[in-house]
Amino acid sequence: MPSDKSLRLGVNVDHVATIRNARGGTHPDPVRAARLAAAAGADGITAHLREDRRHIVDADIERLMAEIELPLNFEMAATEEMLAIALRHRPHAACIVPEKREERTTEGGLDAAGGHNRLRPLVGSLADAGIRVSLFIEADPKQLEAAVALQAPVVELHTGAYCDACLEGDGAAAGRELARLTDAASLGAALGLEVHAGHGLTYDTVTPIAALPAVRELNIGHFLVGEAVFVGLEAAILQMRTLMDAARAETLEA
Ligand code: PXP
Repeated sequence: MPSDKSLRLGVNVDHVATIRNARGGTHPDPVRAARLAAAAGADGITAHLREDRRHIVDADIERLMAEIELPLNFEMAATEEMLAIALRHRPHAACIVPEKREERTTEGGLDAAGGHNRLRPLVGSLADAGIRVSLFIEADPKQLEAAVALQAPVVELHTGAYCDACLEGDGAAAGRELARLTDAASLGAALGLEVHAGHGLTYDTVTPIAALPAVRELNIGHFLVGEAVFVGLEAAILQMRTLMDAARAETLEA
């Protein structure tokens, strides 16, 4: 069992399905990728069943639930259709993500504050079914407080703006975004929320996020699948894990 302070890695297999769907057919298979991820030391599998089924499709979710022992983090829009699918499969966790512009904050996370009345029954139904609910939000105190008001036990902080700033070589913006994430992770933990993070993380951006002591899980997909083209999925995951563990070890020593 991982220790209480450990940092989990959820591997998002969406973009294995993106490549499969580019040609149709069955190859490459996201469930095979999930099996490999488990062998490489992933702690969970993440998959986003989008309303337009552009990558993961319903049969993938069925197979991930039936064939993979790792907990599934089912990313879903806040719709009746997705709620029914989640309740049918009862994954370990459901992460509510925005798919439509009006569900997002200006930065891109779910508008948990503005969507309280719409989201509260959905969060309640998922929780009643024993599914751990997570909200994919911006690193914004207003959104963290909204997550508490919605009785969601988990938030996933959107790392996209931080990763974009790093990619653009804008050190000042990256520093600002990292400070925002650092503050939000601490506030989230102080409010009693379990804090996760993800979106756009790479070998170059993961270390400062993995070093945040309040962060308990990272969900990473696109970069790992891209890197797998060059080194294989297992090697890509192992390298990410190594970087995460090194960052964490330094945090624990400090
Ligand atoms: N977390 C959430 C909530 C996501 O929706 C995604 C996919 O966009 C990820 C993490 C993984 O992001 P990426 O594929 O950029 O690593």
